[in-house]
Amino acid sequence: MNNKIFKILLTITIFFSLFSNSPAAPRIMTEYSAFDFGNVPRGEILEEFFFVENVGDEDLVIEKMSSNCSCAVTSTDENVISPGEFAEVIVTLDTKYLKGKVEREVIIYTNDPKYSVVIINFRATVIDLYHNQGRAAKDIFYEPCASCHYERGVGLSGKKLFFAVCILCHRKETAGPSLSELEKLSKDRLKRAIERGVGGTAMPPFLDDFGGQLSKMDVITLINYIKSMKK
Ligand code: HEC
Ligand code: HEC
Repeated sequence: MNNKIFKILLTITIFFSLFSNSPAAPRIMTEYSAFDFGNVPRGEILEEFFFVENVGDEDLVIEKMSSNCSCAVTSTDENVISPGEFAEVIVTLDTKYLKGKVEREVIIYTNDPKYSVVIINFRATVIDLYHNQGRAAKDIFYEPCASCHYERGVGLSGKKLFFAVCILCHRKETAGPSLSELEKLSKDRLKRAIERGVGGTAMPPFLDDFGGQLSKMDVITLINYIKSMKK
């Protein structure tokens, strides 16, 4: 390259960068914009740390962080990052109730005048190791099944118990009838099925006398909840 042109170009570039850098401003830079956890066994709690750097020349303020699902929690130790400094963000994703390919976003809002909203994508492929193995229905009360199927219902009754335990098998695309279908059944039929299970299906007996974990009183609270849906 001709030496003179080179010098002119260089001068222009330096001038331009001085010019574009003022006025002073914070500037966010994240370690990456997407992260793939890869294949993970269902049930694992995934955790990932990433850095947010302030490459500007004024304090960067993290105003808010959010994510598009209740499964991802984000946090950082500092809300104000000085020029040249970093903060660490922790992302956790509980895969208990996920399956297949999942995608979540973490959104960071800052006072960076140019990139005030930064989105980071997280991906995972959740592999199910527990289902389609011809297990007995009652296995849901024991490990490794109970941590997803039963533990979170311990001590609950009525509606809360239904949504902690029953809903896993009683919603769209699962083998058990939906709540509105259950509501149409008589109290006697509900009682019989909940207490004794439905032989040869995934519906386990729930009453302690039949190998389940609920008392007669717990079963009554469930029946009352299911029948109270009718308006
Ligand atoms: C990591 C969490 C987890 C574990 C461990 C787990 N399950 Fe599940 N299971 C679920 C979820 C969530 C559903 C609801 C359907 C779905 O999302 O796949 C479900 C659904 C089911 C169903 C209903 C399937 C259908 O389509 O109607 C049965 C039966 C079942 N599980 C049995 C078991 C048994 C037996 C075990 C232990 C060997 C077990 N599960 C372990 C989370 C789990
Ligand atoms: C592991 C999966 C699973 C869980 C957990 C489960 N169910 Fe079921 N349930 C089923 C399946 C599958 C059927 C359908 C059985 C059949 O094919 O008749 C069923 C059937 C029933 C029926 C009988 C419906 C009828 O037509 O008579 C009732 C009532 C019922 N479930 C209530 C409950 C309640 C209440 C809970 C929570 C305490 C619960 N189930 C938890 C899988 C489950």
